[in-house]
Amino acid sequence: MSSPSSAPANLIDGRAIAELVHQDTAQRLAALKARGIQPGLAFVRVGDDPASQVYVGMKERTSQRLGIRSETHVLPAATTEAELLQLLARLNADRTIHGILVQAPLPRHIDTARVYSTVAPDKDVDGFHPVNVGKLMLGDPTGFVPCTPAGVHELLIRTGTPIAGAEVVILGRGNIVGKPMASLLVQKAPHADATVTLCHSRTRDIAAHCRRADILIAAMGVPEFVRADMVKPGAVVVDVGVNRVSDPAARNGYRLVGDVHFATVQPLAGRITPNPGGVGPMTIALLMRNTVRAAEQQA
Ligand code: GUN
Repeated sequence: MSSPSSAPANLIDGRAIAELVHQDTAQRLAALKARGIQPGLAFVRVGDDPASQVYVGMKERTSQRLGIRSETHVLPAATTEAELLQLLARLNADRTIHGILVQAPLPRHIDTARVYSTVAPDKDVDGFHPVNVGKLMLGDPTGFVPCTPAGVHELLIRTGTPIAGAEVVILGRGNIVGKPMASLLVQKAPHADATVTLCHSRTRDIAAHCRRADILIAAMGVPEFVRADMVKPGAVVVDVGVNRVSDPAARNGYRLVGDVHFATVQPLAGRITPNPGGVGPMTIALLMRNTVRAAEQQA
């Protein structure tokens, strides 16, 4: 681990910025507590996907640290869709639960879209219910925005990155990051008004698009895809990717890398997120903030 003094000056410290978000959240939690309200967050995990175990574990620990009550429902991989929907109906009706998060990916025999449509929209702190997806598209701030794109947005805002009029290129069109990220940044709204290009596996000459970007957001899940020759000098580069690549030298046989080839891109970027320590902590911070807002709105 490098000491702070040896870290490049252009790193975006996601851990430190997440702590700032947590400070705001803690104040709102104290105000709720004064009214006798403790937010409750339910995690639902189906099967034994190792990455999901790690992610839910980190979210549980952060909830606990902030004073959000959490409960985790771990269901076997063979759980039927009907059983999962029944659990969600129970959690929707539980007045001590203000937020519900069903960790993706779900086993293949379960219809993910149906599951996310079953979570009550006012408890949908993941922002995956069609009502919240629609509100984001419409620019209606009463909806919940998915935590990872909301966290990236917060990083851009809190680093003072100019967004209005900027050329933003997003790599990846998934429902969890790429599409909601694009929706956020194209809004006619403060901290938005960007010109957004959404690139994907069928995009012709991705490198040419990337080189135009003032802000480049990589979220397509291809290890170290973004190389130095794809980045305009001075661009802000945000790496959302978490990819396992095999590494015989590593203790467990693999290591995690992002979608950005950090070693070559970092020197020419204006600012860049490290990975880990960039986007990940922000995703959790925005989940906590969404949960507190859910409790405020339900109170
Ligand atoms: N899997 C990967 N990212 C996410 C997320 O933001 N929320 C949920 N529920 N599952 C995920």
